[in-house]
Amino acid sequence: MKVLVVGGGGREHALCWKLAQSPLLTKLWCAPGNAGIKDVAECVTINAEDVPALVAFAQANAVDLVVVGPEGPLCIGLADALVAAGIKVFGPSKAAAELEGSKGFMKDIVSKAGIPTAWYGRFTDMEKAKSFIREKGAPIVVKTDGLAAGKGVVVAMTLDEALKAVDDMMGSKVFGDAGDELVIEEFLDGEEASFFALCDGKTALGLVAAQDHKRVGDGDTGPNTGGMGAYSPAPVVTPLREAEVMEKCILPAIRTMAAEGKPYTGVLFAGLMFTQAGPKLLEFNVRFGDPECQVLMARMKSDLLPVLLAAAEGRLDQVTLEWRDQCALVVVMAAEGYPGSYKKNTVIGGLDQANAVEGVTVLHAGTALDDKGQVIATGGRVLGVTAIGDSVKEARERAYQAVDSLRWPEGFCRRDIAWRALARDA
Ligand code: AMP
Ligand code: GLY
Repeated sequence: MKVLVVGGGGREHALCWKLAQSPLLTKLWCAPGNAGIKDVAECVTINAEDVPALVAFAQANAVDLVVVGPEGPLCIGLADALVAAGIKVFGPSKAAAELEGSKGFMKDIVSKAGIPTAWYGRFTDMEKAKSFIREKGAPIVVKTDGLAAGKGVVVAMTLDEALKAVDDMMGSKVFGDAGDELVIEEFLDGEEASFFALCDGKTALGLVAAQDHKRVGDGDTGPNTGGMGAYSPAPVVTPLREAEVMEKCILPAIRTMAAEGKPYTGVLFAGLMFTQAGPKLLEFNVRFGDPECQVLMARMKSDLLPVLLAAAEGRLDQVTLEWRDQCALVVVMAAEGYPGSYKKNTVIGGLDQANAVEGVTVLHAGTALDDKGQVIATGGRVLGVTAIGDSVKEARERAYQAVDSLRWPEGFCRRDIAWRALARDA
């Protein structure tokens, strides 16, 4: 089978790395890919959001399956354009991708489906939003309706913070059009985890859970990022809780989306808060998490390709998946300054030594090759040093041993990935 993966981050390197191991694969492309992906796939210089060029490439090369990594192309209709051209795609339609593209839409679906979640209100009027906040009190959470690169969320501990968030998002438009509408919701307290399920429009196949580390600094301090590290399994998500999440969150969402005429195909990412009252849904995303995907792929024993194809073809009920018992952990290496401004084009050395550490695969996120063939950093999040081990402790030791054999003075990472899991074991 000929497969095209769309995207060029750590998540897409993980997907390509896993797909490249499939005996069913005859050719793998990635658009646009990165310096690590080129070791397992042929990179093509097409932007992930250039829908006409991606469709033309898939047609010209008789691609059997397109796997879309990021939400951006899905929200502008890449899957619809591919299906219209007769090409199979793993990823939701534009209408179904609204689950991530509009938080208001997501909350309405979640509420219709009866999924446990925070109470909320949707607002296009600044004064009404502020009255709602005054009525409910703090702590309270203010979110832009539209995509804001993961930054359009303010967890306000005081009334003033919440009112200022409304002014910034709707008044000053710091996130542009994303702030035309706001969602204001209940603050939920508990432990967060991510759960993933593959969907084919009618049914869903649960994957496993992972825990991400969103803050830039050790001890969960500093500004939010796209994710500085992850591990799986997530001890907070016991097998019993996984079954509860499938039953109460994933399957009702799939049924409701189908009933709304927007059947959901692809991977559904549930951001969950495990509160004292049980799991509550924070949000749905329409893609794999990054860096959660890296640990999911490291733990998946089954061949990924036939499973993604089954999802695209509506045959998920015929599929089962096997997982390794081992733990997987990823440490993200970012360019100094991230998530603020950072230097680009610094040279990264020691990749071979890092990859030689037992159980370790260095997945690339923001990298390219310079004209001397050296790997250089081109993004904020640059590498995902991924390790498996018999325990989370072993996986972590291996990952940090690999981190320490890299030569990249302009890079940094968190030193406490998986602290929650280790604290439980202690
Ligand atoms: P989101 O983009 O909706 O996932 O929000 C980003 C982060 O904000 C989440 O990962 C949580 O840590 C936090 N957050 C979002 N919604 C809530 C909520 N209702 N209560 C508490 N924290 C939240
Ligand atoms: N790591 C969180 C996300 O991908 O949204």
